[in-house]
Formats: sequence, structure tokens, C-alpha cells
Amino acid sequence: MAETQKVILIGDGAVGSSFAFANVLSSGVGQELGIIDLNEDRVQGDVLDLIDVLAYTHPKHVYKADYPDCKDADVVVITAGAAQKPGETRLDLVSKNMKIFKGMVQQVVDSGFQGIFLVATNPVDILTYATWKFSGFPASRVIGSGTTLDSARFRQEIADTLNVDSRNVHAYILGEHGDTEFAAWSRSNVGGLQLYDWIQENSAVDEEELIEKFYKVRDKAYEIIKLKGATHYGIGVALNRILKAILHNENAILPVSSYLAGEYGINDIYLGAPSIINNQGIRNTFEMELSEHELQLFQDSAKQMRKILDEALA
Ligand code: 2OP
Repeated sequence: MAETQKVILIGDGAVGSSFAFANVLSSGVGQELGIIDLNEDRVQGDVLDLIDVLAYTHPKHVYKADYPDCKDADVVVITAGAAQKPGETRLDLVSKNMKIFKGMVQQVVDSGFQGIFLVATNPVDILTYATWKFSGFPASRVIGSGTTLDSARFRQEIADTLNVDSRNVHAYILGEHGDTEFAAWSRSNVGGLQLYDWIQENSAVDEEELIEKFYKVRDKAYEIIKLKGATHYGIGVALNRILKAILHNENAILPVSSYLAGEYGINDIYLGAPSIINNQGIRNTFEMELSEHELQLFQDSAKQMRKILDEALA
């Protein structure tokens, strides 16, 4: 490891550069940020632009990097790959991005990298699994952004409906970061009060309306992509949140894409599940008690992922 905490970002597109911006804005989340992208002018331009932020924020060494720079990095963040176009699902990107990942992960591993992979490229659950396979790293050191963004969207929707601060809403979207994700309603609480109890005690809250919010969350990326071509600020900040949990050794609980080995009756797949994150990566993925219906949705999501993985890795 480097003497300072070092992060290498691979992929300087909309998501990568939004993550880089979030990272230079936040205090002490790494002291070095190296950026790699095939488009070298874009990286050089972003490096110069990001350096302009530092005098008003926090010192950081921001530079254009190459694969050998991954050698002593603490974390390699991957956002590179083909992006979702209007009308495309995240899963349409599988074969394109699988090929890109094979070469990319190999180059990182060849550098002698011993740190943690943090993957955001879609379809994120599949590509996190691929990163784990291609790297040969222990699953604890390969993390996907999973349903961290979806859960943030969900918490904000619930918060707006109940008119409370979203930081006091504990609620998870779990499973695939995509069409088969589901809301763990039975485990959702607001300030310690079960969401179900909250609804019952507040006649102003319409249960149906709240359920609609889940669909809105699930389909939000489509809405944003239709309007502006890409989503990037939300995921950029979610990535930086996970990175902070790693570099600050927080033991924070976040619904990242984690390797499931029997949890929720699911095996050998990466999916969004609440996990404890620290400087070793994923310390533990725990099994929340879900309702029967939610558990079924989780397993259905896993089945869908399995099918795609088997086809993609064949
Ligand atoms: C998102 O959910 C497209 O995965 C991206 O915003």
C-alpha cells in the first residue's frame, strides 16, 4: 500500500467524473486520486479541472494514471464500460462490458494490486462477479455498488412522503441493481418505528401511494436516461460513500453487491445485500429476517442473475 491512501479510478465518463468530483469535495477520503481512461485528453482535462477545486476544499493529489499505478492503490474504482442507452436495460450491456472487463481487470492484477475493487459499471452485479472471477481475489475484496443508489432513492421517497429527514429512514432495496430488485418493506423503519406502524398511526399517509414510490425508484434510471441520456451524480456520491466506509474503516452497513454463499438461500452470485464495510472490504453480509414474499423475490432475482451469468461466462 502507498503511504497515503490511494485510489485509482478506471473510467472517466459521466459516472467516473461525477465520482471524482464527489471525492475531491469530501474531506480525507483518500489523499491520492489517479484517473485512467482510454480517452487521455478527457482525463487530462478532468485532472486540470479537478485541481481547480482543491484550494477551496481539501488537499489531494489528482493525476492522470496508468495501470502500473494500481500496484500500491488501496482501492480501484471501476466505472468504465459501455453505458446504457435510452430504451436499453442494464442487462443489455452484459456481453459488451464483460469483454472490456476481462482485459481491464487483468491489467490491474498484473500491476501487483493488492487492494479492494469497487465496481459500478452496469450490469453491476454481473460485472462485480466477473471482476471477482477474473481477478482471483477473495470475494471480500471485490465489492459492487449494488443497491446503494436504489436504497438512497427509496429512503428519499419515503422521507418526502412522511416529511422527515431521509437520514432517519432506514430502508433497503435489495437484489439486482435493476428490474428484479425489490423493497424490503418489512424491515423498513423511520427513527426506530416500523414503517408499517408509522403508516397505521398516520392516517395522512396513503399505503398505496407509498407502494407506488417503489416502482418510481425501480424505474428512476430509465426516467433520467430518457430525459438527459445518463445518470451520474447519484451513483458518483454512492460510490464515494462506499469508498469512505472502506478508507475510514467505518464498519458501515451498506447494501452493496456482495458475494452470497448461502445467505437468503442464494449461492454463488453477487447481489445487493446489507453488508458491513471496512478497510478489509466486506467484513460480513448479514441475513435480515425478510417476509416470505420478500425472500421469494430475492431468490427470483438471483435466478435471473444466474441465467445471465451462465450465458455470459459460457
Ligand atoms: C442508475 O440506477 C443507470 O444504474 C444507473 O442510475
